Amino acid sequence: MKLSYKSIIVFIAGIANTIASPIADNSQAKEGSFRILSYNVGGLPAIISSSKPQEYTKQISPKLNAFDIVNVQEDFGYNNELTSQLQFPYQTDFTGNVPLGNGLMTFSKFPLCTSTREVWKDTHGFISNGADQMIPKGFCYSSVEIQTGYFIDIYNIHTDADTDEKSLAARRSNLSQLAEYINNRSAGKAVIIFGDTNSRYTREGDDVEGLLLKPCNLKDAWIQNVKGGIIPPKGDSLMVHDLGVQGEVVDKILFRSGKNVEINAATFDLLLTEFTDAEGNQLSDHYPISSRIDYKLIDNFLTTDSFGGSGGQGFSFLERIGNGLPKALIVSAGDRIDRIGFMYDTGLVVVGGNGGEERVYEFQEGEYITSLTVCKATKNRLSSKRVSFIEITTNLGTKFSAGKYTNEVMTFTPPNGYAIVGFVGNASNEIDRLGCIYEKL
Ligand SMILES: *[C@@H]1O[C@H](CO)[C@@H](O)[C@H](O)[C@H]1NC(C)=O
Ligand SMILES: *[C@@H]1O[C@H](CO)[C@@H](O)[C@H](O)[C@H]1NC(C)=O
Ligand SMILES: *[C@@H]1O[C@H](CO)[C@@H](O)[C@H](O)[C@H]1NC(C)=O
Repeated sequence: MKLSYKSIIVFIAGIANTIASPIADNSQAKEGSFRILSYNVGGLPAIISSSKPQEYTKQISPKLNAFDIVNVQEDFGYNNELTSQLQFPYQTDFTGNVPLGNGLMTFSKFPLCTSTREVWKDTHGFISNGADQMIPKGFCYSSVEIQTGYFIDIYNIHTDADTDEKSLAARRSNLSQLAEYINNRSAGKAVIIFGDTNSRYTREGDDVEGLLLKPCNLKDAWIQNVKGGIIPPKGDSLMVHDLGVQGEVVDKILFRSGKNVEINAATFDLLLTEFTDAEGNQLSDHYPISSRIDYKLIDNFLTTDSFGGSGGQGFSFLERIGNGLPKALIVSAGDRIDRIGFMYDTGLVVVGGNGGEERVYEFQEGEYITSLTVCKATKNRLSSKRVSFIEITTNLGTKFSAGKYTNEVMTFTPPNGYAIVGFVGNASNEIDRLGCIYEKL
C-alpha cells in the first residue's frame, strides 16, 4: 500500500497534525469521468501457465498507462515485467509469487487509502480444480479518493476457478463473504468491483445476481450497457469467440453509487485487439475489460481517511445518519476508547465493545462538532495500535474528551459550513481506527 499524503504526514512527524480541510468550494469539478481496467494477466510461472507470461507481461506494462485505475489478477512470477513501464503514482504492495502471493494488484492515478487483502474462507482444490489452494486467493479492498472528501471503494477479486460441484459451492461462498464485507465496510459508499469472478450468469450453479448484485445493490456494466439490462438465462452459451462483446466473460465490472458520489459505468468494453503482440496473439489467456466511469459529487457529505491501528472490522455510519444534527455523542473509555457513536433522530448508532465507562455528551439546540482530535496507543507490546483518546470541540466552544492522550495525534477539521456527524473506521472490542463523516449545515 502506498500511503496517502495524510498518513505520510502522521508517520513521519508522529506528533500533533491537522488533516487539511477538504476545499468544498466551486474550484473542485463536481463531475468527471475516469477509465478502469480489469485484466487477469496470466502471470503464473511458465511451467504451470497456459500462455507465455515472461514474453508477454513486458508488453502488457505500457498498455496499462492508458487507464486511471487498473486491477490485475494472477500477477505472480512477472511482477518486475508488469511494472517495468508503469506510470501510476499509487499501487498496492506486491505479495509475491506462488504460493505466497494472491496475485492481486491495483494501480491508480488517484490516492489509494487503507488497502486491505482478505483471503477466502473456503478454498477447494489443490493443483487440479483450478489449483486454488496453491495460492491464497481472495480480494483486495482499496478506498480511492477521487477528489478531497470523496471516496470510492474499489474491490479487486479473484474467486475459486473451475466448475465441479465443490468449486461452485466455494465460489458461491466467496461471493457471500464479499457481500457481507461490502455491506459492513462500504455501507453508504460508492463501490466498484472489478476482477475475475470466475462466474457466469449463464452457468448453472453460479449466482452472481443473488449473492452479490442484489444484497449489495450493484449493477453489472456488461448487463447494463450491452445486454439492455436483462440478465441472460442459465444454459445459454454466450461464447465471446462467436459473439464478441455480446458473449459473456468471467471478468466483470459491478458498481453502485454512494451517498456523496454518484457513479455510472457508462460503457463496457471488451478489449479484443488492444492487448495483443505484433502477430496478433493475445498477451494473456483472458481479455481485458474496461469501463468509463462517470461520477458526480454530491456535496452534502464528505468523508475522510481513518487514523489508528491495523485491526478490527471496517464500518461506516454513512447509511445510518439521521436527519438534522445528532442529538448526543456516546463514548465508553478507559485507557483506550471502547465504544463510540451518535444518537440521531432515527436512533442510536454505535460501534465497539462493552468495556470502559460510558459517558454521554448531549448537544444543545443548534450545537455541532467543529473538530475532532484522536490519539492512538498500543494496548500491549504485541497488539496493534488502537484509538486511545478523543476530544470534540463544538461551535459553542465546548470541549468534551474521553480516554488517554498520547503524542500520536490527528485532528479532523471539517471545512467551513460542515459539521462532524458520523464516523468511518475499524472496530471490534475497542475502536481500532477512526475517521469522520462531515455533513453540510
Ligand atoms: C471461497 O472459495 C474457496 C474455494 O476457493 C472456499 O473453500 C471458501 O470456502 C470460499 N469462501 C467462503 C467464505 O466461503
Ligand atoms: C459485519 O458486521 C457484523 C456486525 O458488526 C459482524 O458481526 C460481522 O462479523 C461483520 N462481518 C464482516 C465480514 O466484516
Ligand atoms: C479494517 O477492517 C477490515 C475488515 O473489515 C480488515 O480487513 C482490515 O485489515 C482492518 N484494518 C485496516 C487498517 O483496514
